Amino acid sequence: MNKIGIIGVGHVGSAAAHEIVVRGLCNHLVLIDRNDDKAHAEELDLADMGSQTLSHTKISSQDYSLLSDADVVIFSTGNMNRQERDRMQELEWTKKTVYDAIPKLMASGFNGIIVSITNPCDVIAALIQKVSGLPKNHVFGTGTSLDTARMKRVVANKFHVNPKNVAGYVLGEHGDSQFTAWSTVSIAGIPLAEYPESVDLNLDEIKEQVAAGGWQIHSGKGYTCYGISACVSNIVKAILTDEVGAFPVSTYSKKYDTYVGHPAYVAGDGIAKQINLHLTADEEAELAKSAAKIHDMFKEHALVSD
Ligand SMILES: NC(=O)c1ccc[n+]([C@@H]2O[C@H](COP(=O)([O-])OP(=O)(O)OC[C@H]3O[C@@H](n4cnc5c(N)ncnc54)[C@H](O)[C@@H]3O)[C@@H](O)[C@H]2O)c1
Repeated sequence: MNKIGIIGVGHVGSAAAHEIVVRGLCNHLVLIDRNDDKAHAEELDLADMGSQTLSHTKISSQDYSLLSDADVVIFSTGNMNRQERDRMQELEWTKKTVYDAIPKLMASGFNGIIVSITNPCDVIAALIQKVSGLPKNHVFGTGTSLDTARMKRVVANKFHVNPKNVAGYVLGEHGDSQFTAWSTVSIAGIPLAEYPESVDLNLDEIKEQVAAGGWQIHSGKGYTCYGISACVSNIVKAILTDEVGAFPVSTYSKKYDTYVGHPAYVAGDGIAKQINLHLTADEEAELAKSAAKIHDMFKEHALVSD
């Protein structure tokens, strides 16, 4: 029996719930939201899929005690109030959702793995780890998973290939200081720099397209949901199936003393191992700068609960 909880079933949480049910990733899905009506409505809407889906998923809502034996909890609270591109702007509000929801989750006896989506993703993941007291390998953020997926989309479009043929990582903050580590990018196993087809690549332009990708979608429809729900579903599947899969998640880095987006192996016990990339000196410097931004934001703004 696998059990998944989702705390915060707005645009992102409900899209993740839908994908989890369609893919049959668990036997029991528990939805929690501060808005009772919304949580019950999502429960019923998802349960209406019951006679149509390939596998059976029991759906419950608004009962923290059901999370006592959950394997994974997805944290996706928010308040739809993002007015600026900088995700750090959300912290003043979203940190309060951590101080509200995480003690309730821990009071249930929960001892599983938390995957956090809520922005600013790296700071909130660090805060959840601190407030929950769970081991660092059991609490992490989706980090640059979505940004990496966006980079794959942009590069694939340039080269007219399937995004699945593009490998590599966007690193750092899930925010404006992120960057594509071009030394890690390859197409069908061929490093980008050696790819035989000559394509007019403006790396700075691609970097901006990737970094601005979320805001472009947000400006059009008011939120983003499908990309992130696909990413988090794959991460959750890696936990539930003990996959040992590489994902650019936001995990604690001893080197930078902060959570930051960087690839790690995800398996049944959460973060199994960090992956050491051979970055260029410039990329190392960019990662250090991005990590410092997250570190300072956490120290200066996350720990105050008023
Ligand atoms: N990490 C990523 O790649 C990524 C991608 C997309 C969105 N996000 C972030 O995900 C978060 C959610 O986005 P959204 O569009 O779904 O927002 P939303 O406003 O649609 O949904 C948030 C939900 O959280 C609920 N909520 C608020 N406080 C709560 C609490 N204390 N306890 C329980 N539930 C609570 C709200 O009632 C609402 O239903 C935002 O912070 C957003 O920026 C992150």
